[in-house]
Amino acid sequence: MTTLISNIATLVTNDPSLGRGPLGLVEDAAVVIDGDRVVWIGTTSQAPATDSHLDAEGRAVLPGFVDSHSHLVFAGDRTAEFNARMEGRAYSAGGIRTTVAATRAATDAELDAAVARYTAEALRQGTTTIETKSGYGLTVADEARALRVAARHTDEVTFLGAHIVPDEYADDPAGYVALVTGAMLDACAPHARWVDVFCERGAFDGDQARAILTAGRDRGLVPRVHANQLGPGPGVQLAVELDAASADHCTHLTDADVDALAGGRTVATLLPGAEFSTRSRYPDARRLLDAGVTVALSTDCNPGSSFTSSMPFCVALAVREMGMTPDEAVHAATAGGAAALRRTDIGRLRPGARADLVLLDAPSHVHLAYRPGVPLVRAVWRAGARVV
Ligand code: NIG
Ligand code: FE
Repeated sequence: MTTLISNIATLVTNDPSLGRGPLGLVEDAAVVIDGDRVVWIGTTSQAPATDSHLDAEGRAVLPGFVDSHSHLVFAGDRTAEFNARMEGRAYSAGGIRTTVAATRAATDAELDAAVARYTAEALRQGTTTIETKSGYGLTVADEARALRVAARHTDEVTFLGAHIVPDEYADDPAGYVALVTGAMLDACAPHARWVDVFCERGAFDGDQARAILTAGRDRGLVPRVHANQLGPGPGVQLAVELDAASADHCTHLTDADVDALAGGRTVATLLPGAEFSTRSRYPDARRLLDAGVTVALSTDCNPGSSFTSSMPFCVALAVREMGMTPDEAVHAATAGGAAALRRTDIGRLRPGARADLVLLDAPSHVHLAYRPGVPLVRAVWRAGARVV
């Protein structure tokens, strides 16, 4: 079954060999999908005959967004904490404890419904691949349960048993690290692809993070790190040292951190929803891009620091607040996210790629930043199936 989408005013391929500039832009473009794959890209006038046909009527098409960082397995919300912040209180990772208590008390069905709701919300906004983490269970059973629930909704599942030290280990953080690297990893590794640590003052230090990430790596999980979010620290350089797929947040960077990222293949994943929702300073994407670092943009969707599932909102924030051009932000939200998940089948539209496409109610991808807050996503295909 082949489908042609034609009369696309601007097609973002993210493949410079197919079109103009780093986004590989094709004007008056057409795409042919066969099953779950893209099989042909060109101009409308050259398009082949297909089984079915959709006229984009001068709208834009881009790859589905790749949200490579979210925390969707949770119960409850933290409205009171948000209100307090908007009255001037600072963000503290301690709020994670509130969500841990609510998540432990939730049933499997409640957690499953929550993940279903947030992934559907993200899909309606053009996200066709989403990574999500555990991290609000923090017992062997609750972390394994979170990963099992997550795996029902996405293949990109991350074990974040080292989110904070839970209250019951407050006097024995070393005991908690031993649990995470021992029985918890045993129970969790079969359900996850990635291992993550919140490496930050008040959470896990560099030595603890190294121990947890290397233990995860020994069990076949690939590291990614919550690094340098609330202040400077060892997270970014540790991520590069361990060849982590991604260092996430990257808000407080020294020149040595930027040099390390530029010298390795670890992607810098920026999460502007967190700075928006915590009223803190944004990471400097310009500095990273100018140094040649691969940048991804993601939502960090979680009930504490960033309760948004909207990649278009993050694109708009990145352009307004982080020195990115609209082209750079769209690239980071698609190809950048794919790089952060070490995927070559998504984030680009070219023959052989998975047919994950977003049709915008706008003539170009620039409108994602130019028209912030407007629901521009008109249609979404995931693996060739029209899902929105
Ligand atoms: O990525 N920084 C650590 N974890 C989340 C926040 C979690 C929470 O506040 O519940 C983040 O921002
Ligand atoms: Fe996070």
